[in-house]
Amino acid sequence: MRLAILGSGAVGQSVADLAGEYGHEVVALADSSSAVVDSDGIDVDDALERKISSGAVGDADPAAVFETDYDVLVEATPTTLDDAEPGFTHAKRALEADRHVVLANKGPVAERYEDLRAIEADSAGSVRFEATVGGAIPVLSTIEDETPQAVTAVRGVLNGTANFILTRMAAEGLDYEHVLAEAQDLGVAEADPTFDVDGTDAALKFVILANVLSDGGFSLEDATVEGIQNIPGSALDLAAEDGRTIRLIGEATREGIRVGPRLVPENGALAVTGTRNIVQIETRHAGSLHSSGRGAGGPETATAVLSDVGRLPEL
Ligand code: HSE
Repeated sequence: MRLAILGSGAVGQSVADLAGEYGHEVVALADSSSAVVDSDGIDVDDALERKISSGAVGDADPAAVFETDYDVLVEATPTTLDDAEPGFTHAKRALEADRHVVLANKGPVAERYEDLRAIEADSAGSVRFEATVGGAIPVLSTIEDETPQAVTAVRGVLNGTANFILTRMAAEGLDYEHVLAEAQDLGVAEADPTFDVDGTDAALKFVILANVLSDGGFSLEDATVEGIQNIPGSALDLAAEDGRTIRLIGEATREGIRVGPRLVPENGALAVTGTRNIVQIETRHAGSLHSSGRGAGGPETATAVLSDVGRLPEL
């Protein structure tokens, strides 16, 4: 497939880096102010090097991406809430041109799911969005394989930054501010880490899951959300005395979405450590399916984008 990539943060750059390994070609790479575009294929290494030296991806207008000969638009610009712009318009524009769209941006699928599906219904292209939930863990493709109707609930830890903070606070007795700065240095926290620690990022992922289970009907305003920013180290110490710890746990069902700090057994499945995520998918016929792995990071999330690309039909 020929990929046009919008967004040159950790995910967009990693998709550009890894695309060749997965048998795909990158024909455009853009950030919000510039693009490198070449319908005969771009030299990605050169583009990334130029970004580092000039602070911009290239010389072309970002809109030039849509004029290239691409099959799949990879939308990896930062997640925005409410109208989910500009990500939503990017996806719309590609679908209206009968191209496929693979989203790493959570906004359009969490906030405007029905609008997105309506545009997809009139397009020869399809929308996929595995990268929006659980980074490298194949969550949405597992639900797709089971069929969403056979899934009753999805629960787990879907924010690596919050999990990293809780793990480090409990194990090392470090304070919240110190560990948050470490998570930012690691590149797992969002550009604005408020969403990671106040539960918004995890909630968006559970909203997406609820939308997949019900084929729409949910947005962030339907979620009950509490973050980890007010958890004192002493709460983690007290929990440990009782063989327990605290994790930011979420759940999506057809009834709604809840995310908040919960006490979990210290050695239990939900007590994943560091930036790991865990997902428990409850099914009607196959019991509970558990997967855990790296839920954040550029190359990790890029593998989810590229696995989506691999599942798309030729146009
Ligand atoms: N910042 C997120 C996390 C990854 O820490 O899990 C992208 O959703």
